[in-house]
Amino acid sequence: MTRDWHEWHRHYDDPESGLSRRLVVVRGALQGLLDAASAPVRLVSICAGDGRDTIPVLDSSDATVSGVLVELDPELAERARSAAPAGIEVRTADAGTTASYADACPADVFLACGVFGNVTDADIARTVATLPLLLTSGGQVVWTRGNNVPLDPTSHQGDPAELVRGLFADAGFEEVAYVADDAAGFRVGVHRWPGPTGTPPPDVQTFDFV
Ligand SMILES: C[S@@+](CC[C@H](N)C(=O)[O-])C[C@H]1O[C@@H](n2cnc3c(N)ncnc32)[C@H](O)[C@@H]1O
Repeated sequence: MTRDWHEWHRHYDDPESGLSRRLVVVRGALQGLLDAASAPVRLVSICAGDGRDTIPVLDSSDATVSGVLVELDPELAERARSAAPAGIEVRTADAGTTASYADACPADVFLACGVFGNVTDADIARTVATLPLLLTSGGQVVWTRGNNVPLDPTSHQGDPAELVRGLFADAGFEEVAYVADDAAGFRVGVHRWPGPTGTPPPDVQTFDFV
């Protein structure tokens, strides 16, 4: 484990924390995608934590959703597993390789929340470049990037979320939504893949947490 992710999750206990405010935005983005869905939705969430950004939204949605949440920490994964609705599998596994979830793709909705602030710029680039292979045509990615991350691994000068947005644009994605909250220290993006449905690579290494 790269840091104490249990301690990190405790920031959610304060409803006024930046993380709690980010959670509202992420849930809203996911809710919007599910509301707009006219067919069953295939969902994948990498580095899913205890699943609080997905599970309550799935519980309150009328959409039919199946898919996989991937979380390395066994205790957090178990918390998510015990709360997950039918159709959602929680895997205690390394989300840095597509081997952990390629069989659940191509996805209609893919969450990468709390990932890009913990990996190198090269790994962000590798992950974003791999996403078209992991998505259906029209599939959407909800991602986050902190702009005030302690020991931020980026070499990018300026707002690191701009690097992420640029990488999505370079990979051919369309930006659907972007929220930047400077006071709370987060950015949330939603990007849509307009190309053909991908063929998921069975075992590609995309990132390692630093
Ligand atoms: C910043 S938290 C984000 C959790 C959740 N997505 C959220 O936003 O509430 C990062 C999570 O990634 C998990 N993690 C770290 N390395 C991982 C890996 N290689 N594969 C899967 N999960 C990992 C941590 O245990 C932690 O729960």
